[in-house]
Amino acid sequence: MESLYTRKHMAWLNQYAGMHYGERYLQERWSKFLPTEFFKYVAQLSKLSIHAFDEACTNKRALDLGCNVGGVTFNLAAKFDEVIGLDCSEGFIEVCEELKENGKATIYPCEEGDLDTEMMAEIPDSMDRSRCSFILGDAHALPSDIGKFGCVVVSCLLDRLENPMKMLKSLPDLVDDKGICVVSDPYTFLEAFTPKENWLGGYLNKDGKEVKASNTMKQVMSDKMELIQIEEMPFMIQDQARVCQLAVSEVQVWKKKTCIEQGN
Ligand SMILES: C[S@@+](CC[C@H](N)C(=O)[O-])C[C@H]1O[C@@H](n2cnc3c(N)ncnc32)[C@H](O)[C@@H]1O
Repeated sequence: MESLYTRKHMAWLNQYAGMHYGERYLQERWSKFLPTEFFKYVAQLSKLSIHAFDEACTNKRALDLGCNVGGVTFNLAAKFDEVIGLDCSEGFIEVCEELKENGKATIYPCEEGDLDTEMMAEIPDSMDRSRCSFILGDAHALPSDIGKFGCVVVSCLLDRLENPMKMLKSLPDLVDDKGICVVSDPYTFLEAFTPKENWLGGYLNKDGKEVKASNTMKQVMSDKMELIQIEEMPFMIQDQARVCQLAVSEVQVWKKKTCIEQGN
């Protein structure tokens, strides 16, 4: 378990924990300035994934890639028998494990400078936490025995990967027959995370045409999967009590084609 000192000083961890578990805290601070949709991203994305799942799919396992502090992972346990959250950050996975064990964890949203406040991240008792497990790992190179899933969620991960195309191409094989893959991303490709030659969009190609990540995704995914839903979902991340980031993710929901539909 991390010491209090470490947890308090992990700015990213506390910002994401606020986004995943601090809906009420954020509403109190920001609702006079922002529509409530901005505080509900984790709940809304989880709900959308559960609703989009086709009961005809017999695989009731779900995977949350880049799970961060696990908000979506725990929510998916309302529907799926087994949910795996995977993230490459030890600090995030430690928080997930603490939440799984105790149902709660203290987080420290930054107020101003070195000043912070205390907030309790809590998983409702109605949620079966025992269905969730967490893996410290790399989404580019998943464990070979991870198996297939009825639902794979990839939220705000693509634009944080070194090689998003490699990960994208691996998705259809992770999804079982009639299963779904929910990819949500604001497409903020930055060289700090992704070398420019690996960006899915946000540049002009050699013919001078605009390449957009939304279209690249459709080209790559449509071989083995069918696009069944597309929408926009806003979210906010509070940096400090008076500073926040606002974004709007595009959510694409893909359903696995049968072998016949794939032309095999
Ligand atoms: C922008 S956050 C999004 C987190 C969460 N899915 C959400 O929507 O709030 C990206 C997450 O992906 C994780 N991540 C980045 N690269 C990764 C990789 N190669 N494999 C697994 N996780 C990764 C980060 O540690 C971080 O938790």
